[in-house]
Amino acid sequence: WYESQGRDLPWRQNREPYAIWVAEIMLQQTRVETVLSYYGPFLRRFPTLEALASAPLDDVLKAWEGLGYYARARNLHAAARQVVEQMGGRLPRTAGELQRLPGVGRYTAAAVASIAFGEDEVALDGNLRRVLCRIFAIDDDPGRPVTQRRLEELACSLLPPGRAGDFNQALMDLGALICLPSKPRCLICPLRGRCLAQLEGIQNALPIRATRSQRPHRDVTAGVIWDRHGHFLITRRPLEGLLGGLWEFPGGKRRPGETLRTCLRRE
Ligand code: ADE
Repeated sequence: WYESQGRDLPWRQNREPYAIWVAEIMLQQTRVETVLSYYGPFLRRFPTLEALASAPLDDVLKAWEGLGYYARARNLHAAARQVVEQMGGRLPRTAGELQRLPGVGRYTAAAVASIAFGEDEVALDGNLRRVLCRIFAIDDDPGRPVTQRRLEELACSLLPPGRAGDFNQALMDLGALICLPSKPRCLICPLRGRCLAQLEGIQNALPIRATRSQRPHRDVTAGVIWDRHGHFLITRRPLEGLLGGLWEFPGGKRRPGETLRTCLRRE
């Protein structure tokens, strides 16, 4: 199914580990459609691991501008330098070693190791957990660590040795094209007749959704200040934390009891 129906995505054109690593970092928390417009230009600007490592961080952040979660760009850059300085410019080949690089978590390490190096590793994210909860009709919260371990074992039991990269990416495509969060397209699913949720008719009830904590909202102010020569005052955010290292108009968060005007003056 994957060979004939899988998506034709630019990071699947070759098995160049650097190109796959960049893709997997960009794809963290970010939709494929969004990554598509950044991926090509980024690789043209930084075609090799060495090019990325020797570039100034500001250039990397500039190429990342608009993609969000900028800590990813800083980590990618730091990791490239680490690989060049300490590993002879070659990315580690196993998930265990990859995970020691900044910005590479369990999922990304498994994705890169399986896709670029053929290591037999399953890479489970939220989408794959949804797919697996349905295939095996699991009605436990997939956010719980015990459930995640169980799903990982089940995925390992399906893994065709030597083809983990294709297996992981096939499940990703199944999740993106067929096994959608709501209204899964079971009629055209290659696992129709084998998926336990579909056989029991409970695919719409799975996975069990845990209640999400609320997203915090804050009021912020910003001052646009310029002189008679048309110079604008901008300031750089601290390297650590949200949008770290990026430039902005000066301003900040309103404190309890402040008006926006007093907040702006204080900031
Ligand atoms: N999301 C994360 N990694 C991916 C990949 N290799 N292909 C498609 N979607 C992905």
